[in-house]
Amino acid sequence: MKHVKAIYPGSFDPPTNGHLDLIERGSKIFGELVVAVLQNAEKDPLFTESERVKMLQATTARFKNVRVETFDGLLVDYVREQKAQAVLRGIRAISDYEYELQMALMNRKLDNDIETVFMMPAIAYSYLSSRLVKEVYRLGGSIKGLVPDIVEQNLAEKVRSSKITKIPKRAAR
Ligand code: PNS
Repeated sequence: MKHVKAIYPGSFDPPTNGHLDLIERGSKIFGELVVAVLQNAEKDPLFTESERVKMLQATTARFKNVRVETFDGLLVDYVREQKAQAVLRGIRAISDYEYELQMALMNRKLDNDIETVFMMPAIAYSYLSSRLVKEVYRLGGSIKGLVPDIVEQNLAEKVRSSKITKIPKRAAR
């Protein structure tokens, strides 16, 4: 699929090693891969768009055919604007499938020429999500091996700037 340009859209709040695993896999099969960070998400994100873009840029710089951008509005409009042909999404477990299928079929209804390609991250990341990373970090658990160092540093920065409160770990009884 080296002639195919794909868009990997998401919230990436924050990027995890699961996202990076998928980006690496995608960069090997697609000619070009654009990691597209959703702007104006209804959810209240912890990281600003520009922080998310910077973390992704720093961690994907080694992939020469990968670029990081932001988008808003309909994904299919952005795919067309980028002259891309495919959307890349990760499926970790069956529980992801229903939501992903719904989105893929809605996107197909909106534009029949755009294909959604699903890839599985490494099994080691099959339980990993941005939401759980934030929760575990806040509650003082270890997120070692789950996010790139730069993300851990950025989380620490959020604690320093009081955007999140880190709850001290309970002492072992
Ligand atoms: O990382 P996420 O939050 O699972 O990513 C969801 C995302 C960004 C892929 C999805 O919300 C999206 O495509 N939003 C853009 C708006 C849109 O096109 N909605 C219709 C999709 S069916």
